[in-house]
Amino acid sequence: MDLLIQGIGQLVTPLGKGPLSGSDQGRLQVLDDAYIVVREGRIAEVGQGSPPRLPCPTMDAQGRLVTPGLVDPHTHAVFAGTRVAEFLARTRGDRYTGGGILTTVAAVRAASEDELVELARPRLLRMLQEGTTTVEIKSGYGLTTEDELKMLRAIRRLSEALPLTVVPTFLGAHAFPGELPREEYIELVVEEMLPQVAKEGLARFCDVFCDRGFFTVEEARLVLTRGREHGLSPKLHADELADVGAAGLAAELKAVSADHLLHVSDRGMEKLAEAGVVGVLLPGTAFVLSEPYPPARRLIQAGVPVALGTDFNPGSCPISSLPLVMSLAVLRLGLSPEEALCAATLNAAAVVGLAEEVGSLEPGKLADLVIWDAHELGELPYFIGHRLALVVVKAGEVAWRTSGFSPTPS
Ligand code: NIG
Ligand code: FE
Repeated sequence: MDLLIQGIGQLVTPLGKGPLSGSDQGRLQVLDDAYIVVREGRIAEVGQGSPPRLPCPTMDAQGRLVTPGLVDPHTHAVFAGTRVAEFLARTRGDRYTGGGILTTVAAVRAASEDELVELARPRLLRMLQEGTTTVEIKSGYGLTTEDELKMLRAIRRLSEALPLTVVPTFLGAHAFPGELPREEYIELVVEEMLPQVAKEGLARFCDVFCDRGFFTVEEARLVLTRGREHGLSPKLHADELADVGAAGLAAELKAVSADHLLHVSDRGMEKLAEAGVVGVLLPGTAFVLSEPYPPARRLIQAGVPVALGTDFNPGSCPISSLPLVMSLAVLRLGLSPEEALCAATLNAAAVVGLAEEVGSLEPGKLADLVIWDAHELGELPYFIGHRLALVVVKAGEVAWRTSGFSPTPS
């Protein structure tokens, strides 16, 4: 698809094909009065001033802000049922321990693949309408070979059916199902699930919930090492409930990311920085659970590239809006709007292995972008909970646009 987008009041984007860390994370390109030329779904040119005259469809951003499409690198968006009772129990003082995962496991086991697809479809459309053009989705609520495969097949179908890039992650090691002894479940994951997942090409990454009450560092090392042998890159739910040394394991394995990090130690941070592991921060989860926020500033100071994700799931975080998460990042993690945008675009793209394709607006990358009802970047975190996306473009095509805004040039 060829397209010219003119009349961009301000174009804000990180630059590059890899994650940005330290002070670079907040150094974005800001172009006033800009235009973008798209050829065959990819960015051909980004310029300022008068746009070229081209015989292709033209869109006018009417002075609005344009950024790359947002990338959500950590979600559990495929699930059945809700956990409203658990949510309300926490408002009366209960603490989240992860035990509720098995409630969702029962609901997912009872659902068909078709049902999982139909339940997730509107959720992903809402994310698209908030500006998300790439989303990672994990399995992990099946915990039998058939049910894990069912989830991953549903994820694949969603990726074919919707105008978003969907990146699948195998999370068989999310929790221990009640019906099997611990060692037997791990054996099932590595001996049966992983080979099947790899054979059907159903996942790109392998994740493990390495935390207090869940998988130990040794168990996670085994699962992730075997996953890698099957071609799945490792990533980790790390130190969310307690510091169990999961960040150190992420560094040792040179995982793409270590996610959550609410309780990461100073040594864990240093190791992440040395190994170039991206820290995926999920402040929506800390907000929902009333837990302390992860040490974002110290991670950035330590040199860890920081990404942001929603963690959208039925238990610890029913938030699916990345702009809302960016508001939390600015208000509660101390990120600047520039750092937050980089975290939700280029750094998140690196986490899902797509930094060469998406995450910034520069020639060669896919034309994934958002025209926002804003004139400067700071408005995105400032208008908390507003839905500011006017037009969402995926690979050069309008994937969604709000009814009140017509981008037709006058
Ligand atoms: O990232 N921490 C583990 N997994 C999810 C929560 C899953 C659930 O509670 O259903 C998370 O927070
Ligand atoms: Fe998670």
